[in-house]
Amino acid sequence: MNFAEPLKQLQDHLEMLKRSGVDFISIRQEKQTPTVSNIAVEPLGLASPKETLLAFRETVLQCAKCSELSRTRKSVVFGSGNVRAQLVFVGEAPGHDEDLQGLPFVGKAGQLLTKIIESIGLTRQNVFICNVLKCRPPGNRNPLPNEISNCEPYLFEQLEIIQPKIICALGTFAAQTLLKTQSPISALRGRFHEFRGAKLICTFHPAYLLRNPEEKKKVWEDMKMIRAELASYA
Ligand code: URA
Repeated sequence: MNFAEPLKQLQDHLEMLKRSGVDFISIRQEKQTPTVSNIAVEPLGLASPKETLLAFRETVLQCAKCSELSRTRKSVVFGSGNVRAQLVFVGEAPGHDEDLQGLPFVGKAGQLLTKIIESIGLTRQNVFICNVLKCRPPGNRNPLPNEISNCEPYLFEQLEIIQPKIICALGTFAAQTLLKTQSPISALRGRFHEFRGAKLICTFHPAYLLRNPEEKKKVWEDMKMIRAELASYA
C-alpha cells in the first residue's frame, strides 16, 4: 500500500491548522483489549476458616469409611464451637447423647467438660470441641485401630483449618492419636507437647473423672497451665 499521498495530505492539513493558530490536537486512543499482561491482577477471594470448615463438614458428614459405624450411627458428630478458637478440646468418640443430638460432649461427661472450660474463664463458644472418632462406636466400646486411622485425617484437617494455639487431648485415645505414642495418659499429662506448631496438653477424660473424682485436682493443674499460656498471648 502506498502511504505517500495520504501522508502528504495529513502534513498539509496539519500545516494549515498550525498557520491558523492550532498548536494542540487530541488523538483518540482505541480502547485497549485486555490481555494477560495488562489486566490488573485481582487477589483471589480466599475462603474464610468458617467457610472452609463448613465445606469440610459436608464431606465428613458423607463418610462411610467404617462400615459398622456408618451403619449404626444416628449422626456424624463433626464438632462445635468457635472456628477461630485458640483452644481446641479433643475427646474420644461420641456417646449415646452425642449421637442423638449430633453435638460433642452433651451428656454427663460433657456437662463436666463445660464446668472445666468455665473454670478457666472460658465458655464453650470460645473454644472448639471435637473427637477423634466422628461416629459413635456401638455400645460405647473403645474405638478400633482401623476406625482411628480412618477418622484421624478428619481431626488433623480440622486442626489445620482452625489453627489453635493450644490443643487439649482428653483421655488416652486423643492423647495417643495426636502424639503417635502408646504411653499412658498418666505419663503424658502435666506438660506441654508439640503438635504441628501448637502446644498440646493431655489430661484425664471427663468420663474418667466422673468415676475417679479424686483425680480432678490433676486436671485443675493442667487447666491452670492452659490458662497461663492463653494469658501470655493476650
Ligand atoms: N466422650 C467423648 O470422648 N466425646 C464425646 O463427645 C462425649 C463423650
